[in-house]
Amino acid sequence: MHDRLFIPGPVEVRPELLQAIAQPQVGHRTQAYMDVHSATIPLLKKILYTEQDVLLFTCSATGVMEGSLRNLCQKKALLTVNGAFSKRWYQIAGFNGVPADKLEVPMGKAVMPEDLDKALATGQYDVFCAVFNETSTGVRAPLEKYSEVLKKYPDVMFCVDAVSAMAGDKIETDKLGLDVCLAGTQKCWGLPTGMCVTMISNKAMAKAATAKAPGYYVNFVDAKKYNDKHQTPHTPAIPILFGLHAQCNHIVNEEGLDNRWKRHLDMQKLTHQWVKDAGFELFPEKGYESVTLSCIKKPEGFDFKNLNGQLSKRHHCVISNGYGDIKEQTFRVAHMADTKVEEMKQLFKWIDAILAEANVTA
Ligand SMILES: Cc1ncc(COP(=O)(O)O)c(C=O)c1O
Repeated sequence: MHDRLFIPGPVEVRPELLQAIAQPQVGHRTQAYMDVHSATIPLLKKILYTEQDVLLFTCSATGVMEGSLRNLCQKKALLTVNGAFSKRWYQIAGFNGVPADKLEVPMGKAVMPEDLDKALATGQYDVFCAVFNETSTGVRAPLEKYSEVLKKYPDVMFCVDAVSAMAGDKIETDKLGLDVCLAGTQKCWGLPTGMCVTMISNKAMAKAATAKAPGYYVNFVDAKKYNDKHQTPHTPAIPILFGLHAQCNHIVNEEGLDNRWKRHLDMQKLTHQWVKDAGFELFPEKGYESVTLSCIKKPEGFDFKNLNGQLSKRHHCVISNGYGDIKEQTFRVAHMADTKVEEMKQLFKWIDAILAEANVTA
């Protein structure tokens, strides 16, 4: 029996999706492939509230984080840094020789729009990158506020890592004026890893066409050229596309978008209540808590290893330790993808029982 995952990715995959993935393969230049690809893209556009391009890259999210900088930055990039993944995006700029500055705040906090405005007003930047949902800290960035600021700087590309939020937390990409919004399939999409779903604006596509060294593998213009023919430039993760198609159908036509967003908010609410009742404390500053995962402070002497070990041994499920610089100070519970409110309630009952037995008081 496997351990049911309550970790912030990879996540539990519904049996129906595993079935969809486990189909006989088709050639990626065949009509059979193109039929699934062309049926999936319009559903993705609905979920991302966009009428612009949504492209599928066969790589994990990091590939498109790198690709966004290579395709779009011609001057200098400005990146928020408030956790392990935003720090990684800043480091990726360095690895690619892309000039970059960071807008850094302590972990647990979100970058404020006034500081963003001040930085962009210098006129140095043509790309702004923000991690919407810092998976390491559970901080949700104020995208709407950033969007207001970005309206003053139409030449700055607005790139968003929505890795642990997309398909769980509502993101109206066109309304927000996003130029890139990316996420791998292994988090709120409720699928195994393998593809990175990426919304790219027409403005970003036009700019990518003028890039001197956009890179070969994650090349926006090339990817669009093939996407317009319902294909990808290179061999895609075909099984993941099958799963994504089934999942998009489920999200749009069975669960319904509003119900999906509400279920995630309900799970967040339930988790916050449990955190309070159990005597724990959330790590993020108030008002900036993630909808899809909770990062919780470990009380003094808290034995996380024992708790997770017992969850696995007795109930075949696991939650997650902290990540990055705050690994020892925090632990995380994911409430994303196709997890039900009832499953979260059950999880918290199990945790409460183990903690009571171990006499670990929060
Ligand atoms: C916010 C965020 N950004 C980027 C990544 C990197 O994604 P991947 O491992 O799919 O490349 C992760 C992975 O957990 C993440 O949570």
